[in-house]
Amino acid sequence: MSARPKLLLTGASSGVGHSLAKHLSARFDVIAGARRVDRIREAFAGNAHVHPCFLDLTDLPGTESALDRILAERGPILHVINNAGIFLKQGIEALTSEQWANCLNVNALSPWLVLKKVLPGMRECGFGRVINITSGAPLNCSPGFAAYSATKAALNAMTVTAAKECAAQDIKINLMSPGPVHSEMAPTGPMEPEVCHPTVDYLLSLGTDGPTGRFFWLGYEVPLFPDLAGVNWLEGKGNEKLRKVL
Ligand SMILES: NC(=O)c1ccc[n+]([C@@H]2O[C@H](COP(=O)([O-])OP(=O)(O)OC[C@H]3O[C@@H](n4cnc5c(N)ncnc54)[C@H](OP(=O)(O)O)[C@@H]3O)[C@@H](O)[C@H]2O)c1
Repeated sequence: MSARPKLLLTGASSGVGHSLAKHLSARFDVIAGARRVDRIREAFAGNAHVHPCFLDLTDLPGTESALDRILAERGPILHVINNAGIFLKQGIEALTSEQWANCLNVNALSPWLVLKKVLPGMRECGFGRVINITSGAPLNCSPGFAAYSATKAALNAMTVTAAKECAAQDIKINLMSPGPVHSEMAPTGPMEPEVCHPTVDYLLSLGTDGPTGRFFWLGYEVPLFPDLAGVNWLEGKGNEKLRKVL
């Protein structure tokens, strides 16, 4: 591998991940993960800066071994995009526990596992840039999307917490939604995946004073939480930010 910075990207076999692998391989050595690794190999044949690697993120022990192997072979990875995701439209009564488990593993637990594995190297280097790909779904909670929305909500909460845990160092961990883009999961998406590139570039090149633990979408910052400043949860004291009903 060359002296370029390394970037770990999940979900590189289609949609947003495919377009990011192409875009980012101009300046990073992209370790490009997915189950359909042959597809990445074919798409990037001749591109020495895309390194396909098999990852099945429903299999957490297998993912852990694969990440250990990647880090042992390549050393610390200071740029990460947790992009892989499962989209599921299924009403509450029809959802199965297997669907929930798969969604949870791919959308929330595997980004946590990736972070857990790369953070020691980032802490040692005092630098890291992580983008966790989320969605507007957990902010909208539309009927039919409980598993998708809830698992992306778990990703959001994990990301904001991790950002706070790393705030003393130059490690920025942010959320991004690509936009309503055309992909395998969203074949009728009105935009091309490339629309997310400027926001990705912005988040990967943040300076030390840049934001962390925040949510970005098509160049906008999206508020994740209502403003509840002054509510004293630990002492059970509300204020005018809460509507009193009793
Ligand atoms: N498209 C949109 O409008 C939209 C909107 C909001 C958020 N997003 C988010 O954007 C991200 C990318 O989605 P996309 O639109 O590009 O969809 P996509 O074309 O369906 O791509 C999903 C990617 O995730 C990978 N993946 C799925 N299950 C996996 C597993 N078990 N193990 C490893 N990799 C797995 C797939 O690779 P393999 O199948 O080869 O494993 C594929 O590369 C997702 O996190 C999605 O939630 C998309």
